[in-house]
Amino acid sequence: MAPTIYVVYYSMYGHIYKLAKEVVAGLEAEGVTVKLFQVPETLPEEVLGKMHAPPKQDVPLISANDLTDADGFVFGYPTRFGNMAGQFKQFWDSTGGLWMKGALAGKPFSIFTSTASQGGGQENTIASSLSNFVHHGMVFVPPGYTMGAELYDLTTPRGGSAWGAGTFTSSDGSRQPSEVELKFAKHQGKIFGQFVNRLK
Ligand SMILES: Cc1cc2nc3c(=O)[nH]c(=O)nc-3n(C[C@H](O)[C@H](O)[C@H](O)COP(=O)(O)O)c2cc1C
Repeated sequence: MAPTIYVVYYSMYGHIYKLAKEVVAGLEAEGVTVKLFQVPETLPEEVLGKMHAPPKQDVPLISANDLTDADGFVFGYPTRFGNMAGQFKQFWDSTGGLWMKGALAGKPFSIFTSTASQGGGQENTIASSLSNFVHHGMVFVPPGYTMGAELYDLTTPRGGSAWGAGTFTSSDGSRQPSEVELKFAKHQGKIFGQFVNRLK
């Protein structure tokens, strides 16, 4: 039976959601069973309105206990001050019961992210969030430099790194994921799909 991978994300303005769909496509290309989930919002409607957040996508919400059904995860969250967005952190803080049982130990995971700007903290967002998963005994599977030559291209601004796919959104959120950023997200899905297939 094909491994089941959950792609679990938080997205306030939709950029992470766009990358998530590419990750899903990459995983599916490797024959993996994929389910896409978002984590619950934690901010009140009034605050979201002031932040000009559009309505959420029509994607099911995940709860902590759902996580045990997956063979692995690709997590996506935008940066907040160079760290994992609080909405995702709050969701992850609800996994204490699973941690006590070691329910996620040994499960592989990968991460993608987004920032407003270059140098806005993509690598730090991923690196600084690893502790959340390491404490569960989970196994980090980064794409590394498998993406190839495009990771060395300095002619165009581009999100993403060896740590995981990424996009730049600009400070007003108007920039949308570029072709190469979408390609990198799909590639990350494929790399992760190949890994979990080998594991299975
Ligand atoms: C409170 C807050 C802190 C942020 N901190 C950073 C930051 O440190 N660096 C950066 O480049 N962008 C920062 N941003 C911009 C977000 O990362 C950006 O809105 C997000 O990547 C968009 O992804 P989304 O469309 O999926 O919500 C911040 C945004 C907010 C609301």
